[in-house]
Amino acid sequence: MQYARHYTIINTMKINEKLTALIKEKGLNYHIVTYGCQMNDHESEKLGGILEQVGYVPVNTIAEADLILFNTCCVRDNAEQKVYGNVGALKKRKEENPDLLLVVSGCMTQQAQAANKLAQTFPFVDIILGTHNQYELAELIAERLLDGKTILNVLPEATGVHEDIPVKRQGGPLAFVNIMYGCNNFCSYCIVPYVRGRERSRLPQHIIQEITELVQNGYKEVMLLGQNVNSYHGEGSVSFPQLLQMICEQTKISRIRFMTSHPKDLSDELIAAMAAHPQICKHIHLPVQAGSDSVLYTMNRGYTRGQYLLLIEKLRMAMPDIVITTDIIVGFPGETVHDFEETLSLIREVRFDSAFTFVYSKRSGTKAAKMEGEIPPEEQRDRIVHLIDIQNAITEEKNKAYEGKDECVLVESTSTRDKNHICGRTEGGKMVNFAGDEGLIGSFKTVHISQAKRTTLFGELR
Ligand code: 5AD
Ligand code: SF4
Repeated sequence: MQYARHYTIINTMKINEKLTALIKEKGLNYHIVTYGCQMNDHESEKLGGILEQVGYVPVNTIAEADLILFNTCCVRDNAEQKVYGNVGALKKRKEENPDLLLVVSGCMTQQAQAANKLAQTFPFVDIILGTHNQYELAELIAERLLDGKTILNVLPEATGVHEDIPVKRQGGPLAFVNIMYGCNNFCSYCIVPYVRGRERSRLPQHIIQEITELVQNGYKEVMLLGQNVNSYHGEGSVSFPQLLQMICEQTKISRIRFMTSHPKDLSDELIAAMAAHPQICKHIHLPVQAGSDSVLYTMNRGYTRGQYLLLIEKLRMAMPDIVITTDIIVGFPGETVHDFEETLSLIREVRFDSAFTFVYSKRSGTKAAKMEGEIPPEEQRDRIVHLIDIQNAITEEKNKAYEGKDECVLVESTSTRDKNHICGRTEGGKMVNFAGDEGLIGSFKTVHISQAKRTTLFGELR
């Protein structure tokens, strides 16, 4: 079958019975360590699904595992450094137990130079694969365990959309659902288009089918995932707002969220769809990245400060209580003090509910890596500290406005700090902690908010 934008569906799962027999006979287990974003979290659920399909059993710690898989990120340098540190730390354990299998996959190893460097620095790693061939994990393990090969296998291009990969979900009432893969935007700082390939949208009927099955299995909320969900382009030219409408009309899912929206592609239709359907959470993550037009231009973001502010106005006109969150990068090459002040004035003007803030990290191969005007690290640090101070105060004020209100919360888990407390999220995505029984996990409850802190709201069951 042909995909929109010429991508084909691929049914890839091949079960090697000899491998399955060996894994079961030895009673082998696995542990996955995930770095990075929700896309990676969900990919780890698929890697876990593959491992369990061939007989591996999950364990909670690296120490207990016969197979350790690092699913890596490369969006910033510190994410890569962590991987080198954590893989390196296993050298001794691998020497003591040569049967231990070490696998490194994901965005970092999708870059040929990083994969080679990893293989050279840590020759004891058994299998290295990229983002485009994660579906081959079971076959690569079979080659390693049955034929004794050490494997470095990274495909340069995405071959399509893989629809038959089993998923081992994390549990709780929330499920991730990919609607598209890859990115065509080439923001000048970003490595993602190089490691995740061009945009590929899943067919609407496959998404609907997955969500229908999730509902049958008791899930209450889905998070639709894509690097830029607003450029979803399903077969028959189905747009993202149309897809949302189809999900609302054709499935019984209670809550829908999505991530991430690129401002340049956020349409009036999307705002109207969000406002029209009660199932769609009134929360949008809309990365602005910078507040000055000249930085937005050199970042190749495709919108101006004025256009971004207009979007915020339209969103709030249509949904007065909408929660708006963002991503911001400071210290981009050429960012002047004036540019940075424009970012500060933008966050004061918009008053985001919260923001993920990052110091610019040079990624080799991107356009920005060749740009002049690098900002010294101390200056970058001063700027981010200043930015975080201002945003923290805004976040706290925004949260305080919830005190005294009743909020509908989907209960997700017990609190890590207190077993008699449970926590869940409001429609806007704010975490709420309150006294309650773990039997309430998976249900919607009205909670009276009595106290608001910067990261969490506290309340009592109504
Ligand atoms: N340096 C710093 N932050 C980055 N991001 C992406 N690439 C870089 C980089 N090179 C941030 C952006 C993006 C978020 C996921 O990560 O803010 O929205
Ligand atoms: Fe990176 Fe820009 Fe694509 Fe987001 S939209 S993944 S920041 S290139």
